[in-house]
Amino acid sequence: MADHYFSAEPGSADVRRTVEARIWGREYTFTTATGVFSRDRLDIGTAVLLREVDPPAEPGTFLDLGTGYGPIACALAVEAPEAQVWAVDVNTRALELTAENAGKAGVADRVHPVLPDDVPEDVRFDQIWSNPAIHIGKPELHRMLLHWLARLAPDGVAWFVVGKNLGGDSLQRWLTDQGYPCVRVGSAKGFRVLRATNAGPSPS
Ligand SMILES: C[S@@+](CC[C@H](N)C(=O)[O-])C[C@H]1O[C@@H](n2cnc3c(N)ncnc32)[C@H](O)[C@@H]1O
Repeated sequence: MADHYFSAEPGSADVRRTVEARIWGREYTFTTATGVFSRDRLDIGTAVLLREVDPPAEPGTFLDLGTGYGPIACALAVEAPEAQVWAVDVNTRALELTAENAGKAGVADRVHPVLPDDVPEDVRFDQIWSNPAIHIGKPELHRMLLHWLARLAPDGVAWFVVGKNLGGDSLQRWLTDQGYPCVRVGSAKGFRVLRATNAGPSPS
């Protein structure tokens, strides 16, 4: 079977390298590896997301959905010093790298790299951040997003980055139709940055 970056356990040799990135004005050196998304540099879509959206101003409980080697999760934990960050991925090599990168960033105690089923049931998220895995296909993508958005706090906010040619605009409409009003807050380098919230209580 082809060794996609979203394989549960990449079969390729685990060849490590480092990637330098500047996020919200701070320098990071991340360890990446074969079999993990964007191992050669901070992904352009992720860079657009982190440039277009300010880091959380308040501590809280955050989700990095599809964390990869953990650049978003680590930066969130660094910027929001009391936050708890759940870093979810199906790729076990990605989770190992996220743990290592969180250690290097000094936030290993507050970044929790886990498989999707290992997030405790009662955890709710003040913010969800994601450069979602579009290539898993629309049905699986929609199922994944609805699963996690159901755990968004009532006044929570979700930030997404999606390529325009990978369906960013239709995803915006779909999220709104699902009861998560969604607006475009940025657009650069062919990527859409989206902000979704919980709809308010339905009028009685
Ligand atoms: C586009 S990559 C983004 C990685 C990382 N956040 C970054 O910015 O470099 C999407 C990630 O989602 C992961 N993924 C795929 N299916 C998933 C699922 N059902 N649940 C959680 N993560 C998933 C992939 O393994 C991949 O690491």
